[in-house]
Amino acid sequence: MLEALTATSLAPLQRDRTGAAARTVAEPSVATGGTAVSITGLTKRYGDKTVLSGIDLSFRAGEFVAIVGRSGCGKSTLLRLLLGLEKPEGGEIRIGGQPAPRAGGDVARFIFQEPRLLPWQRVLDNVALGASRTVPADRRRPLAQEALKEVGLADRGGEWPSVLSGGQRQRVALARALVSHPKLLALDEPLGALDALTRIEMQGFLERVWKHQGFTAVLVTHDVSEAVALADRIVLIDGGRVALDVAVPLARPRVRGSAEFGAIEGQVLDRLFAGR
Ligand SMILES: Nc1ncnc2c1ncn2[C@@H]1O[C@H](COP(=O)(O)OP(=O)(O)O)[C@@H](O)[C@H]1O
Ligand SMILES: [Mg+2]
Repeated sequence: MLEALTATSLAPLQRDRTGAAARTVAEPSVATGGTAVSITGLTKRYGDKTVLSGIDLSFRAGEFVAIVGRSGCGKSTLLRLLLGLEKPEGGEIRIGGQPAPRAGGDVARFIFQEPRLLPWQRVLDNVALGASRTVPADRRRPLAQEALKEVGLADRGGEWPSVLSGGQRQRVALARALVSHPKLLALDEPLGALDALTRIEMQGFLERVWKHQGFTAVLVTHDVSEAVALADRIVLIDGGRVALDVAVPLARPRVRGSAEFGAIEGQVLDRLFAGR
Protein backbone atom coordinates (compact mmCIF):
# COMPACT_ATOMS: atom_id res chain seq x y z
CA MET A 1 0.00 0.00 0.00
CA LEU A 2 2.81 2.37 0.85
CA GLU A 3 4.39 1.66 -2.50
CA ALA A 4 1.27 2.72 -4.33
CA LEU A 5 0.91 5.87 -2.26
CA THR A 6 4.40 7.00 -2.97
CA ALA A 7 4.04 6.21 -6.63
CA THR A 8 1.13 8.60 -6.87
CA SER A 9 2.71 11.27 -4.67
CA LEU A 10 6.13 11.33 -6.22
CA ALA A 11 5.29 12.04 -9.83
CA PRO A 12 3.48 15.35 -9.20
CA LEU A 13 6.25 16.42 -6.83
CA GLN A 14 8.87 15.93 -9.50
CA ARG A 15 6.78 17.74 -12.05
CA ASP A 16 6.47 20.71 -9.69
CA ARG A 17 10.17 20.83 -9.06
CA THR A 18 11.35 20.51 -12.60
CA GLY A 19 8.48 22.25 -14.33
CA ALA A 20 8.37 19.40 -16.84
CA ALA A 21 5.14 18.22 -18.42
CA ALA A 22 2.69 16.18 -16.37
CA ARG A 23 3.46 12.48 -16.20
CA THR A 24 0.76 10.17 -17.39
CA VAL A 25 2.32 7.11 -15.77
CA ALA A 26 3.19 7.11 -12.08
CA GLU A 27 6.85 6.72 -11.25
CA PRO A 28 7.76 3.31 -9.83
CA SER A 29 7.53 3.57 -6.06
CA VAL A 30 10.28 4.54 -3.87
CA ALA A 31 11.49 7.79 -3.31
CA THR A 32 14.28 9.96 -4.02
CA GLY A 33 17.00 7.77 -2.50
CA GLY A 34 19.91 9.12 -0.58
CA THR A 35 22.93 11.28 -1.10
CA ALA A 36 26.59 10.65 -0.33
CA VAL A 37 28.27 12.80 2.31
CA SER A 38 31.96 13.50 2.59
CA ILE A 39 33.52 15.23 5.59
CA THR A 40 37.21 16.07 5.55
CA GLY A 41 39.35 17.64 8.26
CA LEU A 42 36.32 19.12 9.99
CA THR A 43 37.26 21.35 12.92
CA LYS A 44 34.88 23.31 15.12
CA ARG A 45 35.76 25.57 18.06
CA TYR A 46 33.70 27.59 20.51
CA GLY A 47 36.07 30.16 21.97
CA ASP A 48 39.11 28.28 23.26
CA LYS A 49 37.33 24.97 23.25
CA THR A 50 37.95 22.69 20.28
CA VAL A 51 34.85 20.52 19.99
CA LEU A 52 35.67 18.69 16.74
CA SER A 53 39.25 18.27 15.66
CA GLY A 54 39.91 17.15 12.11
CA ILE A 55 37.01 14.74 11.58
CA ASP A 56 37.17 12.65 8.40
CA LEU A 57 34.08 10.63 7.53
CA SER A 58 32.18 9.64 4.45
CA PHE A 59 28.70 8.20 4.21
CA ARG A 60 27.35 6.26 1.27
CA ALA A 61 24.11 7.32 -0.37
CA GLY A 62 21.29 5.64 1.53
CA GLU A 63 23.49 4.54 4.40
CA PHE A 64 22.08 4.56 7.96
CA VAL A 65 24.79 5.92 10.25
CA ALA A 66 24.50 6.25 14.02
CA ILE A 67 26.67 8.77 15.85
CA VAL A 68 27.27 7.99 19.51
CA GLY A 69 29.43 9.51 22.20
CA ARG A 70 29.30 10.95 25.68
CA SER A 71 27.26 14.03 26.41
CA GLY A 72 29.03 17.16 25.19
CA CYS A 73 31.35 15.32 22.76
CA GLY A 74 30.05 17.29 19.78
CA LYS A 75 27.35 15.09 18.25
CA SER A 76 24.78 17.85 17.84
CA THR A 77 27.49 20.20 16.64
CA LEU A 78 28.42 17.70 13.94
CA LEU A 79 24.79 17.50 12.75
CA ARG A 80 24.42 21.29 12.68
CA LEU A 81 27.60 21.56 10.61
CA LEU A 82 26.33 18.81 8.31
CA LEU A 83 23.17 20.79 7.62
CA GLY A 84 25.05 24.02 7.12
CA LEU A 85 23.46 25.57 10.22
CA GLU A 86 26.91 26.47 11.55
CA LYS A 87 30.26 27.18 9.98
CA PRO A 88 33.36 25.13 10.79
CA GLU A 89 36.72 26.71 11.57
CA GLY A 90 38.38 24.21 9.27
CA GLY A 91 37.69 21.41 6.84
CA GLU A 92 34.95 20.73 4.39
CA ILE A 93 31.61 18.97 4.11
CA ARG A 94 30.21 17.94 0.77
CA ILE A 95 26.69 16.63 0.33
CA GLY A 96 26.09 15.01 -3.03
CA GLY A 97 29.22 16.80 -4.23
CA GLN A 98 28.01 20.25 -3.08
CA PRO A 99 29.44 22.23 -0.15
CA ALA A 100 27.10 21.77 2.86
CA PRO A 101 25.80 25.34 3.24
CA ARG A 102 24.50 25.40 -0.29
CA ALA A 103 23.17 21.87 -0.03
CA GLY A 104 20.47 22.89 2.48
CA GLY A 105 17.05 23.56 1.01
CA ASP A 106 15.24 20.40 0.17
CA VAL A 107 18.21 18.06 0.17
CA ALA A 108 18.51 17.76 3.92
CA ARG A 109 16.12 17.87 6.85
CA PHE A 110 16.60 17.85 10.62
CA ILE A 111 14.57 16.07 13.30
CA PHE A 112 15.06 17.09 16.92
CA GLN A 113 14.27 15.44 20.23
CA GLU A 114 11.16 17.62 20.57
CA PRO A 115 8.79 17.53 17.60
CA ARG A 116 8.58 21.35 17.49
CA LEU A 117 5.05 21.44 16.10
CA LEU A 118 3.08 24.68 16.01
CA PRO A 119 0.25 24.19 18.55
CA TRP A 120 -2.07 26.61 16.76
CA GLN A 121 -1.85 24.76 13.45
CA ARG A 122 -3.61 21.49 12.72
CA VAL A 123 -1.51 18.40 12.05
CA LEU A 124 -1.89 18.59 8.25
CA ASP A 125 -0.80 22.24 8.18
CA ASN A 126 2.17 21.49 10.42
CA VAL A 127 3.28 18.86 7.93
CA ALA A 128 2.67 21.18 4.97
CA LEU A 129 5.18 23.62 6.49
CA GLY A 130 7.90 21.17 5.49
CA ALA A 131 7.08 21.44 1.78
CA SER A 132 9.57 23.06 -0.50
CA ARG A 133 9.10 26.76 -1.25
CA THR A 134 9.14 25.83 -4.90
CA VAL A 135 5.94 23.78 -4.47
CA PRO A 136 2.85 25.86 -5.32
CA ALA A 137 0.65 26.61 -2.29
CA ASP A 138 -2.25 24.50 -3.53
CA ARG A 139 -0.04 21.40 -3.84
CA ARG A 140 1.32 21.57 -0.29
CA ARG A 141 -1.64 20.06 1.54
CA PRO A 142 -1.98 17.08 -0.85
CA LEU A 143 1.74 16.40 -0.41
CA ALA A 144 1.38 16.75 3.36
CA GLN A 145 -1.47 14.24 3.27
CA GLU A 146 0.75 11.74 1.41
CA ALA A 147 3.49 12.24 4.00
CA LEU A 148 0.99 11.64 6.82
CA LYS A 149 0.01 8.37 5.15
CA GLU A 150 3.68 7.42 5.00
CA VAL A 151 3.90 7.73 8.80
CA GLY A 152 0.57 5.96 9.40
CA LEU A 153 -1.38 9.06 10.47
CA ALA A 154 -3.50 9.60 7.35
CA ASP A 155 -6.67 10.13 9.39
CA ARG A 156 -5.20 12.58 11.94
CA GLY A 157 -4.53 15.60 9.72
CA GLY A 158 -7.48 17.57 11.11
CA GLU A 159 -6.41 17.20 14.75
CA TRP A 160 -4.50 19.64 16.92
CA PRO A 161 -1.01 18.48 17.91
CA SER A 162 -1.99 18.61 21.60
CA VAL A 163 -4.34 15.62 21.30
CA LEU A 164 -1.64 13.30 19.93
CA SER A 165 0.67 11.09 21.98
CA GLY A 166 4.41 11.82 22.16
CA GLY A 167 5.19 9.10 19.63
CA GLN A 168 2.50 10.37 17.24
CA ARG A 169 3.82 13.93 17.47
CA GLN A 170 7.28 12.71 16.59
CA ARG A 171 5.75 10.89 13.59
CA VAL A 172 4.18 14.18 12.52
CA ALA A 173 7.63 15.78 12.76
CA LEU A 174 8.93 12.94 10.59
CA ALA A 175 6.15 13.54 8.05
CA ARG A 176 7.00 17.27 7.98
CA ALA A 177 10.59 16.30 7.15
CA LEU A 178 9.55 13.72 4.53
CA VAL A 179 7.17 16.00 2.66
CA SER A 180 10.11 17.47 0.75
CA HIS A 181 11.59 14.00 0.05
CA PRO A 182 14.98 14.81 1.58
CA LYS A 183 18.02 12.88 0.45
CA LEU A 184 19.64 13.31 3.85
CA LEU A 185 17.84 13.13 7.18
CA ALA A 186 19.72 14.19 10.31
CA LEU A 187 18.09 13.03 13.54
CA ASP A 188 19.28 14.40 16.90
CA GLU A 189 18.17 11.97 19.62
CA PRO A 190 14.69 11.94 18.08
CA LEU A 191 13.33 9.23 20.38
CA GLY A 192 15.06 10.40 23.55
CA ALA A 193 11.93 11.83 25.17
CA LEU A 194 9.75 8.75 24.60
CA ASP A 195 9.02 5.93 27.04
CA ALA A 196 10.88 2.66 26.49
CA LEU A 197 8.11 0.77 24.72
CA THR A 198 7.14 3.63 22.40
CA ARG A 199 10.80 4.11 21.69
CA ILE A 200 11.25 0.54 20.46
CA GLU A 201 8.09 0.79 18.35
CA MET A 202 9.35 4.03 16.84
CA GLN A 203 12.70 2.46 16.02
CA GLY A 204 10.94 -0.19 13.93
CA PHE A 205 8.87 2.51 12.36
CA LEU A 206 11.86 4.69 11.51
CA GLU A 207 13.63 1.70 9.98
CA ARG A 208 10.64 0.96 7.71
CA VAL A 209 10.35 4.57 6.54
CA TRP A 210 14.09 4.73 5.87
CA LYS A 211 13.96 1.49 3.85
CA HIS A 212 11.00 2.75 1.89
CA GLN A 213 12.30 6.26 1.19
CA GLY A 214 15.97 5.41 0.82
CA PHE A 215 17.41 8.65 2.27
CA THR A 216 20.80 8.77 3.95
CA ALA A 217 20.13 8.76 7.71
CA VAL A 218 22.47 10.23 10.31
CA LEU A 219 21.08 9.43 13.73
CA VAL A 220 22.60 10.84 16.91
CA THR A 221 21.68 8.70 19.89
CA HIS A 222 22.98 8.11 23.39
CA ASP A 223 21.40 4.65 23.31
CA VAL A 224 23.92 2.13 21.97
CA SER A 225 21.27 -0.55 21.65
CA GLU A 226 19.24 1.80 19.42
CA ALA A 227 22.34 2.38 17.29
CA VAL A 228 22.90 -1.38 16.86
CA ALA A 229 19.20 -1.94 16.12
CA LEU A 230 19.07 0.66 13.34
CA ALA A 231 22.42 1.57 11.85
CA ASP A 232 24.53 0.09 9.07
CA ARG A 233 27.44 1.66 10.85
CA ILE A 234 28.22 3.20 14.24
CA VAL A 235 30.61 6.13 14.62
CA LEU A 236 31.80 7.00 18.11
CA ILE A 237 33.10 10.52 18.73
CA ASP A 238 35.48 11.10 21.61
CA GLY A 239 37.91 13.91 22.29
CA GLY A 240 36.84 15.67 19.10
CA ARG A 241 37.81 12.72 16.93
CA VAL A 242 36.35 9.53 15.49
CA ALA A 243 37.29 6.99 18.14
CA LEU A 244 35.47 4.03 16.62
CA ASP A 245 33.80 3.36 13.27
CA VAL A 246 32.20 -0.09 13.10
CA ALA A 247 29.91 -1.77 10.61
CA VAL A 248 26.77 -3.52 11.87
CA PRO A 249 26.48 -6.44 9.45
CA LEU A 250 23.28 -7.89 10.95
CA ALA A 251 20.18 -8.82 8.95
CA ARG A 252 17.10 -6.63 9.47
CA PRO A 253 14.92 -6.44 11.40
CA ARG A 254 17.43 -7.11 14.16
CA VAL A 255 16.98 -9.40 17.11
CA ARG A 256 17.98 -7.60 20.27
CA GLY A 257 18.67 -10.68 22.37
CA SER A 258 21.03 -12.31 19.85
CA ALA A 259 24.71 -12.97 20.57
CA GLU A 260 25.80 -10.98 17.51
CA PHE A 261 23.74 -7.98 18.57
CA GLY A 262 25.20 -8.16 22.08
CA ALA A 263 28.77 -8.45 20.77
CA ILE A 264 28.55 -5.23 18.74
CA GLU A 265 26.78 -3.42 21.57
CA GLY A 266 29.52 -4.56 23.96
CA GLN A 267 32.28 -3.40 21.61
CA VAL A 268 30.81 0.11 21.39
CA LEU A 269 30.07 0.33 25.13
CA ASP A 270 33.62 -0.78 25.96
CA ARG A 271 35.04 2.03 23.85
CA LEU A 272 32.59 4.54 25.35
CA PHE A 273 33.67 3.66 28.89
CA ALA A 274 37.33 3.50 27.92
CA GLY A 275 37.09 7.18 27.04
CA ARG A 276 36.15 8.19 30.58
N1 LIG B 1 26.75 27.66 20.57
C1 LIG B 1 27.67 27.21 21.43
N2 LIG B 1 28.50 28.06 22.08
C2 LIG B 1 29.44 27.60 22.91
N3 LIG B 1 29.65 26.30 23.19
C3 LIG B 1 28.86 25.41 22.57
C4 LIG B 1 27.84 25.80 21.66
N4 LIG B 1 27.22 24.69 21.20
C5 LIG B 1 27.84 23.66 21.79
N5 LIG B 1 28.82 24.08 22.61
C6 LIG B 1 29.72 23.21 23.39
O1 LIG B 1 30.28 22.28 22.50
C7 LIG B 1 30.36 21.00 23.10
C8 LIG B 1 29.62 19.99 22.24
O2 LIG B 1 28.23 20.27 22.32
P1 LIG B 1 27.15 19.35 21.60
O3 LIG B 1 27.51 19.22 20.17
O4 LIG B 1 25.83 19.92 21.93
O5 LIG B 1 27.38 17.96 22.33
P2 LIG B 1 26.49 16.63 22.29
O6 LIG B 1 25.39 16.81 21.33
O7 LIG B 1 27.44 15.53 21.92
O8 LIG B 1 26.01 16.42 23.70
C9 LIG B 1 29.83 21.14 24.52
O9 LIG B 1 30.91 21.34 25.38
C10 LIG B 1 28.98 22.38 24.43
O10 LIG B 1 28.92 23.02 25.67
MG1 LIG C 1 23.33 16.87 21.58
